[in-house]
Amino acid sequence: MIFDSTPIVAGNWKMNKTDSETIALIKSLKEDLENVQALSIIFPPFISLLSANKELQNSTIKLGAQNIHFEESGQFTGEISAKMLVNICEYVIIGHSERRQFFNESNTVINKKLKSAIKNGLKPILCIGESLEEKSAGLSAKILEKQLIKGLDGITNSKDLIIAYEPVWAIGTGEAANPEEISLTIKNTIHTTLASINLNHPIIPILYGGSVNPSNTASFMNYSEINGVLVGSASLKDKDFIEIAKIASQS
Ligand code: PGA
Repeated sequence: MIFDSTPIVAGNWKMNKTDSETIALIKSLKEDLENVQALSIIFPPFISLLSANKELQNSTIKLGAQNIHFEESGQFTGEISAKMLVNICEYVIIGHSERRQFFNESNTVINKKLKSAIKNGLKPILCIGESLEEKSAGLSAKILEKQLIKGLDGITNSKDLIIAYEPVWAIGTGEAANPEEISLTIKNTIHTTLASINLNHPIIPILYGGSVNPSNTASFMNYSEINGVLVGSASLKDKDFIEIAKIASQS
């Protein structure tokens, strides 16, 4: 599908919500999200994907997983593969900074996960972003280029790929990045790098993530370089997430 500029609003629930809480949150999101002109995707924990899938039958709200293992099956205790998820959800987050930071995921591992997602028919959201130390050292562009070049190595089909630019220092801190800086980084670094590796950036949606809330959503969505938002903590509150989706849909 060619990116048709429908704004994307993705909610990464991280390690939050029990199964019954997941269903309750979906029930309270459903009607409003189905009536906004944005593509809403929610990412509950693995344990609730099956019941979320049932709850979302015939809904326009899409479902995704927060992670996968890169192999399809085997001796990987506690892991879940793309092959297992493909009939349950449509999207998967790959390379979130918390996975990079707390689970030592390298660009090489992330690349394998992306390949497995694509091979098995899951639509990946590749997360990239520099840390505060890297930003302070003037290394932002270098880090993003490396994450894109290594992460996307060997990937030629960008049809279902989404990229989320989430500066690590803006995630979970309540301190969102400066929207103009983000739009310039997308234009000058992310688009340029994608073009240099022959990925057709005009069709790859780029999301911003990091302390997105109803009060700052419009300031990001006003920039044509920003095609949507990846929301963490505000996606756990029905009113906030609905408001964010409404604001994004008006952009
Ligand atoms: P946050 O998380 O909105 O709570 O900062 C964003 C993310 O981790 O994707």
